[in-house]
Amino acid sequence: MAPAGNERFNDEAADWDKNPSVQEATRLAFDTLKPIIQTLSECKQSSSGSGLDVLEVGCGTGLLTLRVAPLVHEIVAVDPAHGMIEMLKAKAKISTCDNETDGPRNHNNIVAVCGLLEDPEDPLLPPQDPTNPTGRRRKFDLILSHLVMHHVPDLKPFLGTLLGCLSPGGRVALTDFEDFGPEAIKFHPPTKLEGVERHGIQAVGIEELMKEVGFQDVKVSIGWTLNKSVEYWRDNKPGDTLGFPFLVCEGVRP
Ligand SMILES: C[S@@+](CC[C@H](N)C(=O)[O-])C[C@H]1O[C@@H](n2cnc3c(N)ncnc32)[C@H](O)[C@@H]1O
Repeated sequence: MAPAGNERFNDEAADWDKNPSVQEATRLAFDTLKPIIQTLSECKQSSSGSGLDVLEVGCGTGLLTLRVAPLVHEIVAVDPAHGMIEMLKAKAKISTCDNETDGPRNHNNIVAVCGLLEDPEDPLLPPQDPTNPTGRRRKFDLILSHLVMHHVPDLKPFLGTLLGCLSPGGRVALTDFEDFGPEAIKFHPPTKLEGVERHGIQAVGIEELMKEVGFQDVKVSIGWTLNKSVEYWRDNKPGDTLGFPFLVCEGVRP
């Protein structure tokens, strides 16, 4: 079943990348995640000679996906909103590059999937063995998810699905804004609260939930702070901004 708010993301897909705050949040997420990805990638290269297999859940238009892709072997990017996935597919095809001197980048290692992932054995995911397309689904070295958890109605099954999508020893690095108190509601303008299940993620709560679901070596820390306009709230005035801390939630599949 499509989640509440799916309509919203289909409607917003075409203009998603034009929002400077979304771009800034992605830039800060990538700066924080890059060293984690590079370290894992070096470990995998030295142990098996290949790069990382990554799953990104709630990839949207692929702002993070396109940055991560050059660092990994393959990234499977999943989102339930088809409008978002169509944008990602279009961008991946035209070989966007952030810096013109880099020349066109190869995005052949992005697999874009439209669907709501609720089962690690969902046939939407690529098969582990390409010669057995209906067999067991692929397991991943790393799962990323940025600005998604606050839209997920029930985080326990969501985390359980992510755990089931990991290879043994694989890890998650999930980023979302923190529920730091009543002002966290101001992350979204009052007109964009459709599909928002919670006003950020509580650090202690998510750490306990990740352990309960079965993750090991759970670490929840503040990765960065995003300054964002809150002028659309009645008790604020034009030009007002607020700093929103972002959590990086890491855990390992035993
Ligand atoms: C705030 S957007 C973030 C998109 C992208 N990660 C970014 O930072 O630009 C949230 C995304 O999560 C997706 N989403 C909503 N509910 C979801 C769920 N239960 N599981 C996975 N993705 C979901 C939406 O379709 C949307 O693309």
